[in-house]
Amino acid sequence: MKPNIKNIAVLTSGGDAPGMNACIRAVVRTGIYHGKNMFGVIQGYQGLINNNIISMDARSVSNILHLGGTILKTARCLAFKEDSGMEIAFKNLQEKGIDGLVVIGGDGTFTGAKRFGEKFGINVIGVPGTIDNDLYGSDFTLGYDTAINTVIEAIDKIRDTADSHDRLFFVEVMGRDSGCIALRSAIASGAEAVLLPERETSLKELITKLKEGASTKKSSSIVIVSEGNKYGGAYDIAKSVKRKFTHYDTKVTILGHLQRGGSPSGFDRILGSRLGFAATNALINGETMKMVGLFGNQIKLTSLSEALESHNYKLEEDLLEMTHVLSI
Ligand code: F6P
Repeated sequence: MKPNIKNIAVLTSGGDAPGMNACIRAVVRTGIYHGKNMFGVIQGYQGLINNNIISMDARSVSNILHLGGTILKTARCLAFKEDSGMEIAFKNLQEKGIDGLVVIGGDGTFTGAKRFGEKFGINVIGVPGTIDNDLYGSDFTLGYDTAINTVIEAIDKIRDTADSHDRLFFVEVMGRDSGCIALRSAIASGAEAVLLPERETSLKELITKLKEGASTKKSSSIVIVSEGNKYGGAYDIAKSVKRKFTHYDTKVTILGHLQRGGSPSGFDRILGSRLGFAATNALINGETMKMVGLFGNQIKLTSLSEALESHNYKLEEDLLEMTHVLSI
C-alpha cells in the first residue's frame, strides 16, 4: 500500500553543482501542488543533525532557477556517518513529522541516504547532483553540463594565449575518480591530449604525441589533466614532461572550484526541474530508496544500491580514440 506522505524535506549535500537550485524549486513546488507541507534542510546532513530545518512555500524558491550554488547550502558531514549522528537526525525529522526526504548530491550523499533509509525506514529519493557525472542510472548528473561549458570557455581563453606565445599548457580539471569532464572538454576544446583516471596513458606516449604535433608545425598544445589520473597533479606532470621535451615553453593552469560555480546552463535548468519534479512525484507515489535519473531522455528510477555499486563512469573508448585522431 502506498504511504500517505504529508511532509517532505529537501536537502543538498556534498559538492554543490549548478542546477541544484532549479531542482530545489521543482521539488518544493511539486510538493505544494500536491498539497504537501514542504521543508528545506540547511547544510545537508549537518542541518538534519543541527535541526536546521525550515518551512518552505512556493515563494521561498522564487527567482533561484538561474542561480549557481545551492540556496539550501551544503556540507560534507562526517557526523552523519556515525549511528549517533543519524539517530539525532531521525529524531529531528520525526519531531516535525517529516516522512519523505529528497536528497540531491553525489555518491557520498547516496551512501548516507541508503544507510539512513535502511536504518529508520524513512522514505527517501535521490537526485544525482554532481559535476563529476559518475553515478550509474543517469546519462547526465546535474551540474555536469554547466561544468563542461565552464571548462571549455576557460580553455578557449588559454588557447588564445598559448597560441600567441607558442606554449604548451597543462590544464587540470575536476572529476574526482571520473574522467568524464576531462574527456568531454578535450573533445570540445580540441586539446592535443588528455590524461584520465580510467586509462593509463604513459608519459612516454604523451611526449610522443606532443613531439608529433611539434614536428607537424603545431604552434601550441594543450594537455587536459583529469584529477585522479595516475601521474598526479598538473604541476608534477608538467615538470616530468619538461625534463624530456623542451620544444615549448610550458605553463600550468588549475581550474579548481570555478568549475563548480556559475549560472546553470539551459540543459541543467531543465534537468534540475525534471529530476526534482520526478523525485517528488516518485515519493508521493510510494517509491523509496531510489534515484531518479535521465536515461535516453526518459526519466528512470534506479535503486540507490545499484546507482552506488556501479557508480563509476565507464570510459567511452570510441570518444578517446576520436580525440586522439582529431588532434593530430
Ligand atoms: O564531487 C565534486 C568535486 O568537485 C570533485 O570533482 C572534486 O574532487 C571534489 O568535489 C572537491 O571537493 P571539495 O570542494 O570538498 O574540495
